[in-house]
This record gives sequence, C-alpha cells and structure tokens, in this order.
Amino acid sequence: MNDTTDIPVIAIDGPSGSGKGMVTHALARGLGFHILDSGALYRLIGLAAIKSGTDPADEPALARLGLEMDVRFEPTDDAEEPLRVFLEGEDVTVRIRTDEAGVYASRIAPLPQVRESIRILQHSFRCAPGLVADGRDMGTDVFVGAPLKIYLTASVEARAERRYNQLKDKDIGVSLAALSQSIAERDERDMNRAVAPLRPADDAIVIDSTSISREEVLERAFALVQEHLGLTVTRDATT
Ligand code: C5P
Repeated sequence: MNDTTDIPVIAIDGPSGSGKGMVTHALARGLGFHILDSGALYRLIGLAAIKSGTDPADEPALARLGLEMDVRFEPTDDAEEPLRVFLEGEDVTVRIRTDEAGVYASRIAPLPQVRESIRILQHSFRCAPGLVADGRDMGTDVFVGAPLKIYLTASVEARAERRYNQLKDKDIGVSLAALSQSIAERDERDMNRAVAPLRPADDAIVIDSTSISREEVLERAFALVQEHLGLTVTRDATT
C-alpha cells in the first residue's frame, strides 16, 4: 500500500446540521483538496441494507455490505450539493439525504463491525494534494494524525432550522418540530455510543456557529488552515 501519511488531512467533525458540509466544500474548493463525506458512507450502507432486505440487527451482514458496496462520488460545482453519490451505479444523491436515511445511518453506525468495514475505504480518499474529511470521528479515530481538526457545533434549534431550510430547498418535506426532535435524538445516539462517540478531539479547535454568520465561520476556518497548514484558501464564487 502507498504511504499517504504525508498527504494533509483536515478533519471536520461535529453534530448533524452544524455546517460541516458547507465548510468542507469551501475548504476543498479553495485548496483543490478531495472530499470524504463519511456520513454518506453510513447512509449508503443503510440504503444498501434496505435494498437488499438485510436485517438491520444483523451486524456481520451489514459489515459485508460496507465492504462490498460499489460507491462512487462525483464532485459538482453546486455548493448546496457538492457531491453526487452513486450506489451500484444508481444516482442516490437525493435518497440518502432524507432525515430517515440519517436516522437509519445513526442506528447502524454504533456497530463496531460496520465501522471497521469502511475504514480502508475512508483511508483510500487520502490522495494528493490533500483531503477534507467530514464526519463524527475523523479527528478522534479515522485520521488521528490530521494536522488540522475543526469541531463545528451549534444549538439544536439553530441546526434544526438550517436543516429545515436545506431540505425544503430540495423539496424533501418535514416539519421543523419533527426535525428538532430527530436531531436531538441523533445527537444523543452519536454522543453516547460506546464506539467512536461524537466528541471534539483533544487537539481540535471548536467553532460554535449558533450566533455567528456563515461568513464568520468560513473566515475562522480559512485562518486556521493558514495557521496550521501554511496554505491560503482561495475564495470562489460558489462558496
Ligand atoms: O453526517 P451525516 O448526517 O450524513 O451522518 C449520518 C449518521 O452517520 C450520523 O448521525 C452518525 O450516526 C453516522 N456517522 C458516524 N461517523 C461518521 C459520520 C457519520 O457515525 N464519521
């Protein structure tokens, strides 16, 4: 296997709706880096399980799906949808973004065999010139040596409102109250599981975006990249 440990990784972790996708996209575009959307991998295992009629409690079978599923990510120029996602050749970009798919993903994500099944796949995204890795355990488990780790967070209310607007724009119908409840429950599951619980790595820099603008979040992230990697992020029209 090629040694990729010199290729820089920026780990972006945090709870659902904290703006990780937006920051990941802006950094990847501005640096010409690759993107790993690790949440999409858990969502894809869930979708593959539904498609194949796999029992969600059958851990070895779910892990096999993780090892064997044929996934492809295609970068786009659309800031709202930076990656198109394909499972077994079928475009499932919209299907995996529903709240149900997120809830299903967070139910199977605590299973250790499922997490291990996609470790090698996740590492395979580490290609030159660099990687921005978005998830829950990028800084604490998958890329512990990353030279920059950012932990993004915001109140449940702020995150629910952002998610609501994103899903509304994509015509995925859901109520704000239901979304708030779902996000709070998902936080609870993600933060309190035994394996790779969601928490900031000891060396992560925390950005709380509850009461700061999207612009300010980006400015802070860009400054951190300059400080930790010595790289200047180019701002483009899509970010
Ligand atoms: O980030 P996203 O909302 O797509 O993630 C869906 C679910 O997948 C999360 O709620 C979490 O349970 C799980 N996940 C994880 N580890 C990651 C990324 C996502 O456990 N690195």
